Amino acid sequence: MSRPCVLVTRRIPGSAQAILSSACEVDLYTGDGSIPREELKRRLANKDALVCLLTERIDADVLDAAPALRVVANVAVGFDNIDRAAARARGVIVTNTPDVLTDATADLTWGLLLAAMRRIAEGDRLIRSGQWKGWALDFHLGSDLRSKQLGVVGFGRIGRAVAARADVFGMAVVYSTLDADAPGAGAEAAGRRRVALDHLLSTSDVVTLHVPLTPQTRHLINRQSLASMKRGAYLINTSRGPVVDEEALAWALREGVIGGAALDVYEREPVVHPDLLSLENVVLAPHIGSATVETRSAMADLAARNVLAVLGGHPPLTPVPFD
Ligand code: GLV
Repeated sequence: MSRPCVLVTRRIPGSAQAILSSACEVDLYTGDGSIPREELKRRLANKDALVCLLTERIDADVLDAAPALRVVANVAVGFDNIDRAAARARGVIVTNTPDVLTDATADLTWGLLLAAMRRIAEGDRLIRSGQWKGWALDFHLGSDLRSKQLGVVGFGRIGRAVAARADVFGMAVVYSTLDADAPGAGAEAAGRRRVALDHLLSTSDVVTLHVPLTPQTRHLINRQSLASMKRGAYLINTSRGPVVDEEALAWALREGVIGGAALDVYEREPVVHPDLLSLENVVLAPHIGSATVETRSAMADLAARNVLAVLGGHPPLTPVPFD
């Protein structure tokens, strides 16, 4: 019997390639950047599986070009790039890579929080510009973390991992979930208080976003919600760019409605709103939440193992729910 075929849309670590090659013929796209859409469709025509990244939009049009496709393994925990309804209608299983990137993303969230509150990136720019005049008592002052309130919006794996690191910095945590049944169980016992989003926004010194991108969360943070935040508060986003209205954020940062922000994700990646580029009080990271050698390797391995499970007739390890 011939071996199943998998298309991999970007170079992945060797261990994941080895997992795939152990049971499949692997067609690897090696071009620079994202695979062009027409090429993606053409190469999918005879494929049983697809390993893709969040930069590829997998919609009905792409799925129709892949009549034999059985599984789409996204190398990401988010899956807003995939039309799950279209996949379901065609009997295609969708998988993602939860858990393995939780710590890396939570760590980066704290890195951004520190960078914003202690003005680290701004200081780096200052030194490189040759403008630093030396130590002074009132120079480059940021904000203490201790005794401040961290508001975690979305209390899934990553939100909880972010909250777990707050004790080290002496920050109190409140959280809100948009879904009444969302995981948050046990959080109250751990001293985390669940509050309404409005309350979280108006009382937190730092608001950090950990919700998936859905129609409900698109522009969750807009002019109105920013205006309801504490003056001087910080906004951190390591979830998905469109959760924040960038135009509104630029306004809030420019007008001093909030104190600062740190972003890892953008509405139209890799394009960043030009107003944000010219503001000093926002830290901009290039979507690197899960970007460590160990984590990216674990993500690719998990995607590869999902492919093998499905092609082997077993349940996927980490299926994406179809709602
Ligand atoms: C990265 O953004 C991911 O969803 O894994």
